[in-house]
Amino acid sequence: MAKVKTTFFCQNCGTQYAKWQGQCNVCKEWNTITEEVLQKPERSNWKVDSSQRKQASKPLKIMDIDLSEEARLNSFDEEFNRVLGGGIVLGSLTLLGGEPGIGKSTLLLQMSLKLPYRTLYVSGEESEKQIKMRAQRINPANNSCYILTETKTQNIFKQIESLEPEIVIIDSIQTLHSDYIESSAGSISQIKECTTELIKFAKETATPVILIGHITKDGNIAGPKILEHMVDTVLQFEGDRNHVFRILRAHKNRFGSTNELGIYEMQGSGLREVSNPSELLISEKEEALSGNAIAATLEGMRPLMIEVQALVSTAVYGTPQRSATGFNAKRLNMLLAVLEKRAGFRLGAKDVFLNITGGITVDDPAIDLAVVAAILSSNEDESLQNDFCFAGEVGLSGEIRPVQRIEQRILEAEKLGFSTIFVSKYNKISLKNRAIKIQLITKVEDLVNLVM
Ligand code: TYD
Ligand code: MG
Repeated sequence: MAKVKTTFFCQNCGTQYAKWQGQCNVCKEWNTITEEVLQKPERSNWKVDSSQRKQASKPLKIMDIDLSEEARLNSFDEEFNRVLGGGIVLGSLTLLGGEPGIGKSTLLLQMSLKLPYRTLYVSGEESEKQIKMRAQRINPANNSCYILTETKTQNIFKQIESLEPEIVIIDSIQTLHSDYIESSAGSISQIKECTTELIKFAKETATPVILIGHITKDGNIAGPKILEHMVDTVLQFEGDRNHVFRILRAHKNRFGSTNELGIYEMQGSGLREVSNPSELLISEKEEALSGNAIAATLEGMRPLMIEVQALVSTAVYGTPQRSATGFNAKRLNMLLAVLEKRAGFRLGAKDVFLNITGGITVDDPAIDLAVVAAILSSNEDESLQNDFCFAGEVGLSGEIRPVQRIEQRILEAEKLGFSTIFVSKYNKISLKNRAIKIQLITKVEDLVNLVM
């Protein structure tokens, strides 16, 4: 029998050690190093005959490289295509991460059911019946989608060889195990080995593979960081489970930008692509309410109108509470300090709550101005006109700073019928021929006089 080799891996960062130690030298975490049994096989799993195998590579002039090989498959899902940068690249490995129950399996099963290609959906998490039940909620009519419930990579490759699918989906990488490694499924060496086998398969046959990955408590994809280095694209499916909106983002993309965003709505019959998010994110109201303001933000290339709600009330306890959902709490504290110091608002003894509607998290600094407007409105208990919107960053000295791609934001606001948009005076824009009024402001103090 082959000699059993063991090594030690840090479960946090994947660093390998020859012997056990208490702290990882690389990531400085304690008690993360565990022993794993490892029997590296000589031969690999995925066998293709030599005619299919690529020849040893030679240097090529960059002009001579044929781009048509990087052809993409249409996923028949506008949002998914956009996030990937125009479709699924042949031979690429994509990792989709997200919290349990967020809808990863639903998203990929739904996609499999839409694809006109021979699709193999491998599940190690659910039985065929469970998958069929889920498929029936979505759209059961598809003849080219095959379901395989299997966790051993050797068996999966055997099926792949006979079926020759055009795209493979694995739900999830943490449930796979390879015979060559003795540690249990989900351990670092298993994840690494199974991913390596899948990469080899994907690259040699130009078949795209999409992996689902679990994430840990703190939001990282479970397993070693190395998994994210191995794959071509890392997507994150996020959102608040209590809200209907789900957001798909690319964290890493070898074939496109990472700024793009896909928005879905979870319905009883699967996920619906949201192509006009602004209209959905702004709640329909008859009357204007105090504490609400609308921000003209951008996510990737797409403008997005988002509603910000603030509640300012007298603190019940000694220490006032500050809480923000969907917005950075430190940034909220900073904006409150600016309002206190520059605009003379006494907010020190007030509780301030801030909420971005729709369960969306916004990083765009242009939302600052709407946050300030919402806080002022709630503090004065006076509503803003509900056809006002805002786009500007607030600096520490209370100045309103320009934001990028202001034209696009203005166009979106115009399209949705807003009457006025508040932007920084320092943004270079032409004010002529516009259906919307552009209100230029320089300081937060000005905002108070203009909106109240
Ligand atoms: P699922 O795809 O199983 O999540 P993950 O694979 O990320 O763990 O998502 C399951 C949730 O989605 C579950 O709570 C039920 C809900 N759901 C719907 O609301 N509508 C549907 O059509 C489907 C299939 C699921
Ligand atoms: Mg799942």
